[in-house]
Amino acid sequence: MSIASTTAVAPSDPPARPVRYRTKPLRFLEPAAFHADKLGYLERAAARGPVVELQFGPVTLYLLREPEAIEHVLVRNARNYGKDTLGFDALRLFLGNGLLTSEGSFWRRQRRIAQPAFHHKRIEGFARTMVELADAEIDRMAAEAHAGGQPVDIARHMTVMTQRVAGTTLLGADPDADVDTVGRCVDVLNRYVDYILMTPIRVPLWIPTRRNRRARWAGRTLDRMVAEMIQARRRDGVDGHDLLSMLLAARDEETGESMTDAQLRDEVVTIFLAGHETTANALAWTFYLLTQHPEHQRAAQAEVDRLLGGRAPTAADVRELGLVERIVKESMRLYPPAWFLERSLHQEDVVGGARLRPGAIIALVPWITHRLPHLWEEPARFDPDRFLPEREKARPRFAYFPFGGGQRLCIGRAFAMMEAVLVVARVLQRFDVALAERARIEPEALVTLRPKYGVPVVLSPRAGT
Ligand code: HEM
Repeated sequence: MSIASTTAVAPSDPPARPVRYRTKPLRFLEPAAFHADKLGYLERAAARGPVVELQFGPVTLYLLREPEAIEHVLVRNARNYGKDTLGFDALRLFLGNGLLTSEGSFWRRQRRIAQPAFHHKRIEGFARTMVELADAEIDRMAAEAHAGGQPVDIARHMTVMTQRVAGTTLLGADPDADVDTVGRCVDVLNRYVDYILMTPIRVPLWIPTRRNRRARWAGRTLDRMVAEMIQARRRDGVDGHDLLSMLLAARDEETGESMTDAQLRDEVVTIFLAGHETTANALAWTFYLLTQHPEHQRAAQAEVDRLLGGRAPTAADVRELGLVERIVKESMRLYPPAWFLERSLHQEDVVGGARLRPGAIIALVPWITHRLPHLWEEPARFDPDRFLPEREKARPRFAYFPFGGGQRLCIGRAFAMMEAVLVVARVLQRFDVALAERARIEPEALVTLRPKYGVPVVLSPRAGT
């Protein structure tokens, strides 16, 4: 991909029309072209200019690729950009009105209630459980590899593990709860939301097609699981140690109100889904990249061995595992789990020198911005040292935004980073990780960016482990 650097626009220039990108003669055919290869389509569109207009049937979409434009939308003029989009509507079918999908004063209140649960001191208290659950999953992975003599799909194991971590630390769920069912639900929902986005004329959800039946089953199943978690907690009493207890006990600072059961359900489903699927993908891509760059794998192992010897990492160690952290960050640059952020434009605005019409959808795409050659030298190269503090400081603020930004910045970013660093450290302590022969690695861009066929790896125990 070759993308020209931003064309400078003098403040006095009148706003221009955004460049158009179109691959089909008829605009209602355009979504099919996008659907066939979303990442490639957006790369080709972004190569046209900093602000590109796309027409998907009746919907106008503006693709903004430059950091200043992203900062404008997420921070400087955030009030003018909402979440009333088809994508968020699709998510609302399953997540209801939780932290990710709600807006305005309701969202502000909910965020205020949930925020203390994500205080760094609380998150640090989860490190031990994270490592215990990582160890249990690593043992299962090792046993599977040993028993089958075959490669193991580390992506699948990471999903199971992050599910257990989110369930146990945040919601006090039984770590042995039915993770396979949750995994199937998440997969069905990911695909259903993608279907809604990609299909202009749809069969309504109440008509019992196979796809709709599956989607409704997934919604009902998650509802039931969450209701059981909440009931069990109410029955056993609020102990105040995890997020669910905090949500149950929370009182709004200003009004003194607590959450209704319906709100609680929406928040719990949101946190549970948002809290594991993205981190699992970040870990899967990280291990894939480490198999492709053994020199970085060895350097990370040296860091881990030097700091920890054989002992388990703690929250305090996370700060010292600088290279492991940079590796995770670089992996989220190349494969951002939340690869596509969208907003609706309320009132006409001028961004990057271009006039944008109200009612359009704004696409902010970390996959694109994270690979711009004028921001990232040799963007395709895996180079964790891009995230050395002085090099990070030299880049524009929104050159990198895997967790979004502004007031809607991911509430779980510190949780996710700690979990990812601990898990990568723990796996590398015990194993050399190599990609299985004939593995097929391809990103699948649904709501999250997943390795389509998993990440099959061969684990070789390291000497002394
Ligand atoms: C590597 C892991 C993760 C990535 C890449 C990620 C990414 C993101 C992004 C990009 C957003 C902003 C969405 C937007 O502005 O439209 C977001 C929001 C959110 N994330 Fe994460 N996330 C991760 C982990 C987590 C975890 C571990 C949790 C919870 C424990 C979580 C909970 C949330 C919630 C509740 C929101 C909505 C926040 C709000 O709008 O107030 N995320 N995440």
